[in-house]
Amino acid sequence: MNISTGSMENFYPYLWNPEPYSKMDLPVPIGFDSGGKLVVYDLTQSPHLLIAGVPGFGKSNFLHVLIHSLLPKALVAVIDPKRLEFAYLKNHCALARNEVEGLAMVKSLNKEMERRIDVLEAAGVEKIQQYKGEMPFIVLVIDEVAEIEDEETIHYIDRIVRLARAVGISVVAATQRPSKKLKIFKDDTRDMFLARLCYQMADEISSRMVLGEQCPQAAYLPEVKGRGIFKAGLTIQEVQSMCLYLKDAKKMLKGTESVVSDFAEFCTVKRLPPR
Ligand SMILES: Nc1ncnc2c1ncn2[C@@H]1O[C@H](COP(=O)(O)OP(=O)(O)O)[C@@H](O)[C@H]1O
Ligand SMILES: [Mg+2]
Repeated sequence: MNISTGSMENFYPYLWNPEPYSKMDLPVPIGFDSGGKLVVYDLTQSPHLLIAGVPGFGKSNFLHVLIHSLLPKALVAVIDPKRLEFAYLKNHCALARNEVEGLAMVKSLNKEMERRIDVLEAAGVEKIQQYKGEMPFIVLVIDEVAEIEDEETIHYIDRIVRLARAVGISVVAATQRPSKKLKIFKDDTRDMFLARLCYQMADEISSRMVLGEQCPQAAYLPEVKGRGIFKAGLTIQEVQSMCLYLKDAKKMLKGTESVVSDFAEFCTVKRLPPR
């Protein structure tokens, strides 16, 4: 794979029309390739996506793009350890902004995963796409996943990554530290993230860690925000992700109906009764 030498466009505003991709379960606009063609990926294919890159090059921006493109089709749960960026989504996603909320969320999602496995088994089908009943896709988005230190939380995320594929639950995790120390990606859990989107990396080692031994290129990407390398299966290509500024993201949600309340409540710690 070659890195572009400046022929690629450096900026694309968020502009998303899912219509041509109606055959996909969860189409996500990854970015534009060197020919100016939009790369769209069906998240249910992998079904987990890892996003990496040094700070300031577009990980969180991409998560906003991903969430906005998924919202009409999936229930979205967000763990946001920084507690600021995703607050505006509180009426549209389930939100966890501290360790206690994060643990409650991943516990609930595990419960839902177990329930779904039983339902599919009883229906005699192997995956959600064959199931005829009501079962919306769920996407768990985790920004700065390396910030999560609680063992129990990590255990539940690990289970979801391993077991949730067939039942329509995907994990999208972003990190600036893909180092081997990162607990939830140790051993084979890490290999379950079959799709990777890697923005600017500090060095070849980090690039290889995310994209594979053959791929040091993320260390040599031009210093353009939103420029990354996308790898899914055998396909690997340079992309320029769309830019979605927060003020525009907020505007886009204004006036849209919130349908998330039951799901959000399910993912939240129940308030303790007063003593
Ligand atoms: N795809 C993009 N195109 C243009 N500018 C971008 C893009 N992604 C991010 N930016 C700019 O870079 C800034 C930092 O991006 P951010 O997503 O917060 O980085 P990270 O989460 O990797 O630290 C954003 O506020 C935005 O101004
Ligand atoms: Mg960020």
